[in-house]
Amino acid sequence: MNRFPPDFIFGAATSAYQIEGAHDEDGRGRIGWDDVARDAAGRPLVENGDVACDHYHRFRGDIAIMKELGLQSYRFSISWVRIYPLGHGNINPKGVAFYNALIDELLENGIEPAVTVWHGDLPSVYDEIGGWKNRDVITHYVAYANTLFTLFGDRVKKWFTHNEPWCAAFLPAGSFSDQLQSAHNLLVAHALAVASYRAHPQGDGQIGIVLNLGKQYPASDDPLDLQAARNVDGFLNRWFLDPVLKGNYPVDMVDRYERAGHHFVICPGDMELLGKQPSDFIGINMYSRGIQAYDPDNQLLGAREVRDDAVRRTAMGWEICPESLYDLLLDVKREYLNIPVIIAENGAAFADEVIFDGQVRDDDRIAYFRDHLRFVSRAIAAGCDVRGYYAWSLFDNFEWGAGYSKRFGIVRVDYATQKRSIKESGIFYQNVIRLRAVE
Ligand code: BGC
Repeated sequence: MNRFPPDFIFGAATSAYQIEGAHDEDGRGRIGWDDVARDAAGRPLVENGDVACDHYHRFRGDIAIMKELGLQSYRFSISWVRIYPLGHGNINPKGVAFYNALIDELLENGIEPAVTVWHGDLPSVYDEIGGWKNRDVITHYVAYANTLFTLFGDRVKKWFTHNEPWCAAFLPAGSFSDQLQSAHNLLVAHALAVASYRAHPQGDGQIGIVLNLGKQYPASDDPLDLQAARNVDGFLNRWFLDPVLKGNYPVDMVDRYERAGHHFVICPGDMELLGKQPSDFIGINMYSRGIQAYDPDNQLLGAREVRDDAVRRTAMGWEICPESLYDLLLDVKREYLNIPVIIAENGAAFADEVIFDGQVRDDDRIAYFRDHLRFVSRAIAAGCDVRGYYAWSLFDNFEWGAGYSKRFGIVRVDYATQKRSIKESGIFYQNVIRLRAVE
């Protein structure tokens, strides 16, 4: 039995655009995903989140499911354009009413609301000015975050500023310098939001950021492979961990990027600000690991990912490597003064087998959760300060570029009827929470 400490929090996570639907209701503004091609009736020709899990209308029933599962906490994000349809300016009272009702219903059911300020759904008005690479977005984001602290901070005591700034900065097309600028602006926005929370009369809870991290291993003990893994670790992990937790960028990566001719602007005061706004915890989204080999053709990182076709993978093609979560947690403990950690997302998409009437047998997902939770428990035993774990995801939902084809839920959603069915992995997780242990 791998037991969890009494104050360890078990939850599940979602994000606004991936589940809410109701894209054109109650004054919601627009984000990029709303603008996919549509037929004459306005129906999207490409899958998007127009309807998703229709959670906007079904949240009370959804919270009843969370309660049945025994979730102690629910991590969700707020849709910026429901609060500020134009990104800033007038507040939309109907958007506020929705989140008030959601938060109150959670609390009435004994479930802690854990809120992500921003999870990938930037208002269109900011896409139009270049997105995060435009420094103006920082000011609007901080004003939006501060509005959330005012509106909901009396009841929400766990806040995550951004979800996965690496993805927000590096996945959109653009020059590498632009991507570095976006990353920097996201980090400054995070630090300003933390400062704003600490100064806020309702800022007596905890605040941190959610980073997508993955342990990088060298393909061999050849020093060149070791260096390759170190470089990719710098690109994916340390580029965000260091500024958030140490107040500076990793010097090896700064040199590397400069030598390759990539530049971004750091305004006076930015790094001091980052250094002065320690997060209460770090949220980690962990899905997989990487194995890196030296590659002289990759001028930037000198690395190439080695793909082993023999290993087990999820439906996303991501390698399943639970022990890498343990290694990652130990790295974070060692490098960052044992900062408290929340596993903010961990989970897997599989081709679920429906047995009858929506019932899903998902042994592979059960194994994924069981093995990762075991390594979380072992990391705690090894001294890591891990405070909680959120399964990704509570529901099958809109998996961004993969549309509805990839199912991550512990609860199945039949998109034609919106019927929810707890999968066997959901029952498994319910038992873990009840026993506070994993066998
Ligand atoms: C994101 C989620 C996404 C999940 C699976 C994370 O990167 O935060 O929005 O659905 O991974 O891809």
